Amino acid sequence: MINKINALLKEIENLKAANAEELEALRIKYLSKKGEISLLMNDFRNVAADQKREVGQHLNKLKEATQNRINELKAGFENVQMTNDDIDLTRTAYPIELGTRHPLSLVKKEICDIFGRLGFSIAEGPEIEDDWHVFSSLNFAEDHPARDMQDTFFIQHNPDVLLRTHTSSVQTRVMENQEPPIRIICPGRVYRNEAISYRAHCFFHQVEALYVDKNVSFADLKQALLFFAKEMFSADTKIRLRPSYFPFTEPSAEMDISCNICGGKGCPFCKGTGWVEILGCGMVDPNVLENCGIDSKVYSGYALGMGIERITNLKYQVKDLRMFSENDIRFLRQFESAN
Ligand code: DAH
Repeated sequence: MINKINALLKEIENLKAANAEELEALRIKYLSKKGEISLLMNDFRNVAADQKREVGQHLNKLKEATQNRINELKAGFENVQMTNDDIDLTRTAYPIELGTRHPLSLVKKEICDIFGRLGFSIAEGPEIEDDWHVFSSLNFAEDHPARDMQDTFFIQHNPDVLLRTHTSSVQTRVMENQEPPIRIICPGRVYRNEAISYRAHCFFHQVEALYVDKNVSFADLKQALLFFAKEMFSADTKIRLRPSYFPFTEPSAEMDISCNICGGKGCPFCKGTGWVEILGCGMVDPNVLENCGIDSKVYSGYALGMGIERITNLKYQVKDLRMFSENDIRFLRQFESAN
């Protein structure tokens, strides 16, 4: 048996394979269950007891040598592949690092989830809009300053093709196409012609909510707002509504929450007032309902809109708005644990 093993060992040392298939055939020939080495292993049972030790050692050596030779040949093929012309040198090098969700995406998701629990579903609309959906349908007077070139990016000097300045445009799109009851939440990017600084950018993100049904009242709005504030910040968050004006809501309000940084005691963030403003809201103006083909004598609704950057600032105290779009990995990595 030892002779047989030695002969095989010689054979193995000189093994050659031109390609992967040939190599696989060799592997099967020697190492598979019915391969030559396995057969020898079976014969090992019949070896006389006093020779078992020596034969066993030879057999193990043979098995190891076969495996090594096959691995060697395999590595040869792999190296050949590495130098092929068709290897893609522009591919990202390993290890590829996993990214994390952007803080604005995290907060957007959280806002949508909270309203989702109140039965709101997500609606989206285009960023390139027309005057009707962004302004006219929403009751903006012909000479309203928000239409001014100062604020709105128009495309190719055409006053009817513009980048939306708020996500309220999605309200109109949905109301035009859907019968009440409507309960939607619309997240998205908006654009305004602002000088870029730590507190303003030419694009930012908003979430709009709209609820239209029979008998929707201001009390319903207030209840949803309180629920949102407590879920988003903390259970002891208080809200306060101040009268305000938006063309598309009547009455309109702005909502403040008790400052979540100082707990309402007063700090530099809330400028010592204990309150911070987070959103605009109100009852949908009957003109807006009618503009979208909804009978304002039968239906009423509430709407609200907020900036995602603002909510994110409050949650994570990001002092400079520009951080959100600079893609500095040192900034983004800080939100890894929130993912
Ligand atoms: N569209 C407003 C803005 O961009 C935000 C807003 C205020 C939305 C009041 C609303 C609302 O739906 O009722 O500043």
